[in-house]
Amino acid sequence: MSKNTISNSVIRRLPRYYRFLGELETNGYVRISSRELAEKMGLTASQIRQDFNCFGEFGQQGYGYNVAALKMEIGKILGLDQITPMILIGAGNLGKAIASHIDFKSKGFELVGIFDRNPAVIGDKIGDITVSDISEMDSFCEETKPQCAILCIPKEAASKEVDRLISKGVRAFWNFTHYDLRIEHSDISVENVHLGDSLATLSYRLNSDNETCGNI
Ligand code: NAI
Repeated sequence: MSKNTISNSVIRRLPRYYRFLGELETNGYVRISSRELAEKMGLTASQIRQDFNCFGEFGQQGYGYNVAALKMEIGKILGLDQITPMILIGAGNLGKAIASHIDFKSKGFELVGIFDRNPAVIGDKIGDITVSDISEMDSFCEETKPQCAILCIPKEAASKEVDRLISKGVRAFWNFTHYDLRIEHSDISVENVHLGDSLATLSYRLNSDNETCGNI
């Protein structure tokens, strides 16, 4: 199956498989059956087999999966075997927290620059990166060619900065603003993050009498 035909829900499960397999590897597992993996992850064995079948044959009938090999294959599918340069725009409360607490390298990225327009934060160090003036972003992009940007600026500022970033070759956005990038740019990759949506989902689970279909 080509990568483009893989459903979003399968893609969204892959990081969780990757994380679980990493934990199994750390705990000394060499092989695992789809049934055992399903039990540990709160899924069904057929769901797991179906998911992995989207990408080819990973296991051997009756032998289960080789944990390290499967983790490596899923890592490759996720692109974690390469490191992509990434910049962060907006070094406010959220931007600082993300820059300080996300392990970018283990997710296939390297944070190479942080930009803000506020003189009060320009020059601050976050980890080993100094916050630069947003006016330097164009020349930085021309030199360093980051392919991805994290948006932690107000929604009102997003449109202009996104246009600038796209014109400098950025083609993927980890978007924390509530600006809908896809409306104007259909040819880029966007991962919108809305912590509030996650909280509302928790509210649904807490308050609903309905059985939900698992939590992934
Ligand atoms: P903040 O006000 O602490 O930080 C925003 C930073 O962006 C400031 O340092 C400001 O100087 C900078 N900035 C503004 N315009 C800029 C521009 N054109 N270029 C460069 N820098 C610029 O705000 P906070 O709390 O960090 O939130 C940032 C964004 O994230 C907001 O859009 C907010 O709504 C959103 N947010 C989203 C969440 C989510 O779950 N998706 C959760 C929390 C905040």
